[in-house]
Amino acid sequence: MSALDAWVDELGLIGGNGNVVNRFAWTPELLGACRWLVERLRELGLKADIDAAGNVIGRWEVDGANIDDGAAVLVGSHLDTVPDGGRFDGALGVLSALEAIRRLKAEGFAPRRPLWIAAFNDEEGTRFGTSMFGSTAFVGGDLTSLGDRKGVDGVRLTEAMREQGFDFAEVATAKAVDSVCCYLELHIEQGPRMQNQALDTAVVTSIVGIGGYRVVLRGQTNHAGTTPMTERRDALTGASRVVLALRDAALTAEDVTANVGRIEVRPGGTNVIPGEAVIFVDVRTANPETFTTLGDLVRDTVTAAASAEKLTAEISMSYEHQPVPMNGYLQTLLADEMASQRLAWASLSSGAGHDAQILAQHVPTGMLFVPSQSGISHAPDEFTPPEQREPGVSVLTNVLKTLLLADKIAVPDNSAQTTVHP
Ligand code: GLV
Ligand code: MN
Ligand code: MN
Repeated sequence: MSALDAWVDELGLIGGNGNVVNRFAWTPELLGACRWLVERLRELGLKADIDAAGNVIGRWEVDGANIDDGAAVLVGSHLDTVPDGGRFDGALGVLSALEAIRRLKAEGFAPRRPLWIAAFNDEEGTRFGTSMFGSTAFVGGDLTSLGDRKGVDGVRLTEAMREQGFDFAEVATAKAVDSVCCYLELHIEQGPRMQNQALDTAVVTSIVGIGGYRVVLRGQTNHAGTTPMTERRDALTGASRVVLALRDAALTAEDVTANVGRIEVRPGGTNVIPGEAVIFVDVRTANPETFTTLGDLVRDTVTAAASAEKLTAEISMSYEHQPVPMNGYLQTLLADEMASQRLAWASLSSGAGHDAQILAQHVPTGMLFVPSQSGISHAPDEFTPPEQREPGVSVLTNVLKTLLLADKIAVPDNSAQTTVHP
């Protein structure tokens, strides 16, 4: 078994049960995975630590670097998961980067600039809705408004960090993007296109824009049997209207997805009319113009549903990540490498969010995909077999070599912004 395949199995045991993996921000499971990675990096001779934002940062420094800017090439992904997630989303990117470093060390490669590896904290935002927390801290984004946010377990973010030995007040010290000249991320595709087209690898052209909203609908808690059907103010009925209306809006719009993946119903008795429903909405589009209309789509839909069911509604934004193109120069480097290895490859957009969309707003950023079996991800069935891991690692390793020997990396060709909401 290759080192990479052994690492996939080993890492999958941390927070894992069979193919089901649960690793969330500021939990012993995710921190266990981070510490495991720190050990692997140190074994390879890198300096490695967990920063104040919970990111693992490994550094292969170069003595007497003969490049003017001395900036590092950064490669990585994330180790946290969705609830009952799989073993590959994020993890395969981190482990492929680790494997690329192992190969470079093994062949005695001498970089002309530093090589850093990152496992960014909380890409998914599963526990607190604070998606891209670690990469946002890495680029110097202002996260101060998030400290009071409560997780799914009712614990405040500041408290959750303290329980694991971290200090929310220190998060800003994780900013390190100024020492980096470019970012590369390998990821599973998370959709069916590569399998359908029998592709080995893909160059990512752009990453979708994402809006996340928390909607609270309030009506009147009352008796299930004695309240006439015409006189109810049922919050869950209102929530159901929102779910269906968003689905219909996304079906008729071009290039829009809408998802409600979590609903909390209170008080939660079979014989009680639900007085409150909290729903968590995720809307996406790759089109920058359409992206500016998604907030209104959610607000109008919620207002109409609330009015039809005589409810009150409160809407707050949990996260917003702009659609971004990937750097043109890095797309070309990746494509040329795939072509020279005679791989079956194509250029594809990403419907999933990635730390790369945060980094892309600051440094030239490129991504490559490897296939997801049956297009499944964010689920325990997510799988990329060993023979489909190798082409991605091989491309990543060679492109890293090129970048590590380059005098200058092309300037960013995009300028999108990321907004963090309390
Ligand atoms: C991250 O995986 C996302 O697309 O939400
Ligand atoms: Mn994911
Ligand atoms: Mn991911």
